[in-house]
Amino acid sequence: EIAKDKHGVGQVLLRNLRGTSVRISLHGGQVLSWKTDHGEELLFISSKATFKPEAVRGGIPICFPQFGNRGSLEQHGFARNRMWIVDDNSPPLHPNDSNGKTYIDLLLKSTDDDLKIWPHGFEFRLRVALAFDGSLTLISRIRNINCKPFSFSIAYHTYFAVSDISEVRVEGLETLDYLDNLCNRERFTEQGDALTFESEVDRVYLSSSDVVAVFDHEKKRTFLIKKEGLPDVVVWNPWEKKSKAIADFGDEEYKHMLCVDGAAIEKPITLKPGEEWTGRLELSVTPTS
Ligand code: BG6
Repeated sequence: EIAKDKHGVGQVLLRNLRGTSVRISLHGGQVLSWKTDHGEELLFISSKATFKPEAVRGGIPICFPQFGNRGSLEQHGFARNRMWIVDDNSPPLHPNDSNGKTYIDLLLKSTDDDLKIWPHGFEFRLRVALAFDGSLTLISRIRNINCKPFSFSIAYHTYFAVSDISEVRVEGLETLDYLDNLCNRERFTEQGDALTFESEVDRVYLSSSDVVAVFDHEKKRTFLIKKEGLPDVVVWNPWEKKSKAIADFGDEEYKHMLCVDGAAIEKPITLKPGEEWTGRLELSVTPTS
């Protein structure tokens, strides 16, 4: 189902037989909504979100080919600022990635303007798939269609909706090294406990296991993040002071969101001419007893 938003931008709605739904904008290939069969939104979108060249504040913007300001490009790269197209001729994926799922394939190809700022021809295919059990999978296939190698970083900047950030715990990052964006990307080592939140956090955890869990005690639910090809995990919450400085973010909204991104940042991925890279992120939600 393809509709237009009020700015005339195409949006794709996926709905499974149980009534779980996912909405994706062709602007940025950005997932804007993921709702349970009860109509409850699982992703955070700011009440101040506006349509702007950069991504809408919330959902799952894709940071590519650069994460943050680590490079010469605009913050988080240009993919989230481009119009993607629906790709009707996407090459097949592994059958398990299609069976019983409702999905859409999107495509972003480097334009002449992109080549001026990032001189590397690429094709970025994004499959967004909704399974019968409600899990949401994003599969990125990035191909070098150039005649020389290039390197890139990528992050699925996932804004989870949480009831109260001070009641949230993240497991799966214990004992890992991380780069702290609040300390000039200095490297630290996480202690043994699950992560809890009481101030601004802006970190890249390095080489995590393939499953990370976000427990929301108040809601009694857990988000599971399963990833392949995405060794790093970004954890971001702007907290009180930074929130006030972000124009498209409500002053109190930091209490109700947490970004936990599957990513490949520390060691950029290099593709030789003709080579393709695949990265997979699967998000699911389960009640916590
Ligand atoms: C985080 C960065 O991942 O994304 C932060 O580390 C940044 O520094 C945040 O503020 C949001 O970025 P943006 O460009 O969407 O406002």
